[in-house]
Amino acid sequence: MPDRDPGGSHAQNFLPYGRQEIGDADIKAVVEALCSDWLTTGPRVGQFEKAFARFCGAAEGVAVNSGTAALHAAMRAVGAGPGDEVIVPAITFAASANAAVYEGATPVFADVEESTLLIDPAKVEALITAKTKAIVAVDYGGQPADYATLRMLTKDKGIRIVADACHAPGATYMGCPVGTLGDISCFSFHPVKHLTTCEGGMALTDDPELAAHMRRFRNHGIDSDHRKREAEGTFAYDMVELGYNYRLPDVQCALGMAQLERLPQWVMQRRRVADWYEQALNGIEHVRPLRLHEDRTHAYHLYVVRLDLSKARMSRAQAFAHLRARGIGANVHYAPVYLHSFYRDRGYAPGLCPVAERVYEEILTLPMFPAMTKADVERVADVLRELAD
Ligand SMILES: Cc1ncc(COP(=O)(O)O)c(C=O)c1O
Repeated sequence: MPDRDPGGSHAQNFLPYGRQEIGDADIKAVVEALCSDWLTTGPRVGQFEKAFARFCGAAEGVAVNSGTAALHAAMRAVGAGPGDEVIVPAITFAASANAAVYEGATPVFADVEESTLLIDPAKVEALITAKTKAIVAVDYGGQPADYATLRMLTKDKGIRIVADACHAPGATYMGCPVGTLGDISCFSFHPVKHLTTCEGGMALTDDPELAAHMRRFRNHGIDSDHRKREAEGTFAYDMVELGYNYRLPDVQCALGMAQLERLPQWVMQRRRVADWYEQALNGIEHVRPLRLHEDRTHAYHLYVVRLDLSKARMSRAQAFAHLRARGIGANVHYAPVYLHSFYRDRGYAPGLCPVAERVYEEILTLPMFPAMTKADVERVADVLRELAD
């Protein structure tokens, strides 16, 4: 077996902003799946779906081959289409909005809370119209959005809440786990996320009809899969709508199940790293962590700080370059989605969400992954201090 390369292509002392952990149990599980009869659409898919849904407290899981595919399936299942509007926070990964566009619906961007970068329910209220089909609530960085207020705003209006929970498995809102907060909750298993299947994702729901629809959608819109037909001794199937091949192979589900064993521990380790950051950043006046609402627990996919540009002696871009030059893999999550050329070309313009646009200029994502040590965090803090020297 080849040696594993934990540092990737980076120099020895480079601290990336995120890093997966692949252990012997993961490798064993993948090899077993590779040597089995089923590389895809086999028994491990359902096993992984059940195990991840159970972890999050949801009734059903639909495994797909990316978080983006989960969002796309969710948009189809809630019936977003041409003429419909889908409210999405301005600060998120583009996929949160793109999923609505795939289905011909129109994303409507809501501004964010300045101190958390979560979708601001007060701004959402003003954007709801008779055309609103869904709200995509993004659990930015790993902190859940304000679902109770969003529910209140959508009550009796037939508006669905889709949780983009890609950052937040293991977090809670008012004591309820992420995965139970939206009508559908979408997760990503990309390597920088909490657990990885290389690429992969899952949509969770308590509604069996939504689950059945998403299961069909991930399989070309066909009403049965290969294993079911084999069990029933039939060749016949019907394609009842236009779907996609969004299936997650068994080999990747095997990896996901092995990773899931360590998810609770990893969430705790991420919280410990966040505690270390809080201590280490205390007293660095030009660096402000984002706020954590008291009714929530955080899963810390990202550790995001705001730079006070009046106190730092450099811009965010210079701060980013300084950190990278000193071996700290800082990053920025995210530019307001509508400022990307694709959206500008479709009529969205600067000025739409002023808080998002302003705070975007100040944010930096610091390294955050379970294996980080207190010394790593102190090293990041030391370099951040230099930004005001
Ligand atoms: C908030 C958010 N939504 C959706 C996605 C899409 O997930 P994937 O990369 O698995 O397609 C990501 C991935 O980075 C994300 O951060």
